[in-house]
Amino acid sequence: MSLKEHLKHPVFKIISKVSKEMNVQSWVVGGYVRDLILDRPSKDIDVVVLGSGIDLAKSVAKELGEDIHAHYFKNFGTAQIRVKDLEIEFVGARKESYRRESRKPIVEDGTLEDDQNRRDFTINALALSLNEDTFGQLLDSFDGVKDIEKKIIRTPLDPDITYSDDPLRMMRAIRFSTQLNFVIDKSSLDAIKRNSHRISIVSSERIIDEINKMLSSALPSRGFLLMEKTGLLKEILPELQNLKGTEFRDGKSHKDNFYHTMQVLENISRHTDNLWLRWAAVLHDIAKPLTKRYDPKVGWTFHAHEFIGAKMIPKIFRNLKLPLDERMKYVQKLVQLHLRPIILAEDIVTDSAVRRLLFEAGNDIDDLMMLCEADITSKNEDKVKKYLNNFKTVRSKLKEIEAKDKVRNWQPPISGDLIIKTFGISPCKEVGIIKNAIRENILDGIISNQFDEAYGLMLKLGVELGLEIKVKKSELLPEDIAPIQKNPNE
Ligand code: CTP
Repeated sequence: MSLKEHLKHPVFKIISKVSKEMNVQSWVVGGYVRDLILDRPSKDIDVVVLGSGIDLAKSVAKELGEDIHAHYFKNFGTAQIRVKDLEIEFVGARKESYRRESRKPIVEDGTLEDDQNRRDFTINALALSLNEDTFGQLLDSFDGVKDIEKKIIRTPLDPDITYSDDPLRMMRAIRFSTQLNFVIDKSSLDAIKRNSHRISIVSSERIIDEINKMLSSALPSRGFLLMEKTGLLKEILPELQNLKGTEFRDGKSHKDNFYHTMQVLENISRHTDNLWLRWAAVLHDIAKPLTKRYDPKVGWTFHAHEFIGAKMIPKIFRNLKLPLDERMKYVQKLVQLHLRPIILAEDIVTDSAVRRLLFEAGNDIDDLMMLCEADITSKNEDKVKKYLNNFKTVRSKLKEIEAKDKVRNWQPPISGDLIIKTFGISPCKEVGIIKNAIRENILDGIISNQFDEAYGLMLKLGVELGLEIKVKKSELLPEDIAPIQKNPNE
């Protein structure tokens, strides 16, 4: 098979020419070749050379001209060249052997065959010749092309060796299966089950990279289901594993929260690519096992699972090496609020409940609504219809209240500084009491979200607290009255 026409980029001819001049053989290998056959555009090119990767890269960089970014990693014997948006990595052909306790192999020079043997999957063990006489010819020692056609993930060697050598490959197998919609070969799947405990020698950073790639795929639940099936999930994210299963008492059962979560993840992935919203779907019910109780009168309950769940997020993020910044806070917030719209939808939708929800969700209100709609996985069509209809009411109420009261990005009409100035006091607990009372009154719709009404309430509350008015309204400066730019949720 020749893929010559695919090696159109002039850089391939240059590598070929330079290799010939240096009297070495070189090939494009790995994911780039796989993606060419799959017609998935790829910017990362791996070149294997029978000789020194660094020497070849240096000569190629010279040939390409001055504005080329090249990096040489002597310790690893590799080099990287950036040509516009292409990233080309050069490495000498290798033979690798592994020790049980480490993913880091002992590396020796090897033949192209040695190099292909050490690769993770047959679909990644393809090489395209850059040598003049065979330019563009495909070397496919393990029937990788057939496996691409059959949509199968298979290892070139005995899968127990491939996975035990580098346990990250278990995650890669599941990630490729999820991304490409490929099936993992049965013997591979069995080997992953046998070797799943060895994931413990892989760093969390590498694992989370694979999980995030799965989560960014069209059907991310496939990856989590495979992780569960192979025993990897309980090693990596035991909290999610614990959602699996159901219990019966007095003939009453509860739904299997793991499969429910997978359904929610599938639902939300149809509407958004936002990785963090997808994480919120994965984690929204994470505290259900911890909060599960059986009450003979009402059956199974999971009281406060949204609050406990939000509290669990930082530890989960820390363990998985997910970012502990705004992105984590966003997931926490969605987990904590995920029941609110549904409670609204069950009840009569009052203005004040909608106003509070808008205030607490802020700009994430649309994402929260999306999560809540994805959370409706009931098999009872009437129930689903009812909820979706009520959500429509909630959505239109949200719009109406937002237009009227503007509490989504709420700026309190009365600042702490104004309270301090008016009553001539230093910062103290009374300032907080007055500010909170004003906020609650606005959220409950008792006063409007306007300066004058809030100012009147401030005076009344201050006097009730025994404070004296030291500065009158007529003495205030324009900047005392202008709303302050602050996030009310902080
Ligand atoms: N590889 C491997 N074992 C690993 C990682 C990589 O055998 N644990 C080999 C595979 O042949 C792979 C190549 O190194 O094709 C390049 O790896 P990488 O760039 O990480 O992955 P790609 O296969 O290119 O796929 P993606 O870019 O989607 O990660």
